[in-house]
Amino acid sequence: MQATIAGIGCALPSGRLTNEELERRVDTSSAWIVERTGIRERRIAGDGETTASLGVAAAANAIKHAGLTPDAIDLMVLATATPEQPIPHTGAFVSDRLGLRCGSFDLGAGCAGFVYALVVGSSLLVAGDLDHVLVVGAETLSRITDPEDRSTCVLFGDGAAAVVLSKTPDETGGLLAWDLGCDGSAADLLEVPAGGSRLPASATTVAGGQHYLKMAGQEVFRRAVRIIVESATTTLEKAGCSAADVDWFVPHQANLRIIDTAAKKLGVSRERTVVNIDRYGNTSAASIPLALAEAAEGGRIKEGDLVLLSGFGAGMTWASALLRWGAL
Ligand code: UT7
Repeated sequence: MQATIAGIGCALPSGRLTNEELERRVDTSSAWIVERTGIRERRIAGDGETTASLGVAAAANAIKHAGLTPDAIDLMVLATATPEQPIPHTGAFVSDRLGLRCGSFDLGAGCAGFVYALVVGSSLLVAGDLDHVLVVGAETLSRITDPEDRSTCVLFGDGAAAVVLSKTPDETGGLLAWDLGCDGSAADLLEVPAGGSRLPASATTVAGGQHYLKMAGQEVFRRAVRIIVESATTTLEKAGCSAADVDWFVPHQANLRIIDTAAKKLGVSRERTVVNIDRYGNTSAASIPLALAEAAEGGRIKEGDLVLLSGFGAGMTWASALLRWGAL
């Protein structure tokens, strides 16, 4: 018995933030952003839109796409780096609005969170003999981004995507192999310093902007390419496959230069690499499932295709998964 993706859906806020608008806000240029990142615009949550509301909409679309109703879901795993609030976990809000009463928990692994959640959800489906597991990646990075910090505010966007995992008796289908990792010695490269146990939120932390995301971009960039290539290669080796077997490479959408360099080193062509960073920027745990949803809904990924997912993020975490795409 294996877990396979039986439904996929996404949700994007309608608000758009273009490079031209950013040019008016901070000392940047659209040309710099496009050349250094590949991003042209991002979606931004408006009033009433939150990580949970986007997660609910994406999950509802995935459940409908799977031909199911919410009562069929046995477990939900939600990956996010921008929770609805510190307590309770975001999954509680999403579950409630979907009408679920099954187990639900959040998983924090930065931008690698969705692939982590996919592996955990697939494993619990098999171990617990569950029928359907909902895996959600939902983010509102705009809520933790310093609007005056040009080194981060041009990068991040909001959105959500979800998949329904279901059982397949086909041993050659579904999740074939995976690789998860975390090098906590690099935790300070990408962090929100305040608001937790070490540095509780206070007037001082807010005045110092310590509730905003801080990133050592160049060092993260340098590590990201190496991490993606190593993790993706390990995953392919575990499945006894090579890059030439991969029909679609779906990397975390953090920077087009990272994607292009990693794909080239792996030996996967641009034509087989899914890219949507130009329209959404970096949506952290939502980035890989958003790209996956667009490629699947657009008819690019087809039944039987071998799909390689690979992400990295705060922690620094990394996660790759190799899937045999089923009939949707
Ligand atoms: O998903 C989580 C993981 N995150 C990532 O993967 C992000 C990884 N890092 C990156 O994508 C890149 O490092 C950035 C896009 C963040 C920055 O690009 P870079 O090519 O590494 O630029 P840099 O940090 O080396 O900065 C080059 C110059 C600097 O100016 P000086 O010191 O050379 O005068 C920066 O101050 O570009 C400047 N700069 C900007 N200029 C215009 C930094 N941000 C901007 C900006 N507009 N928005």
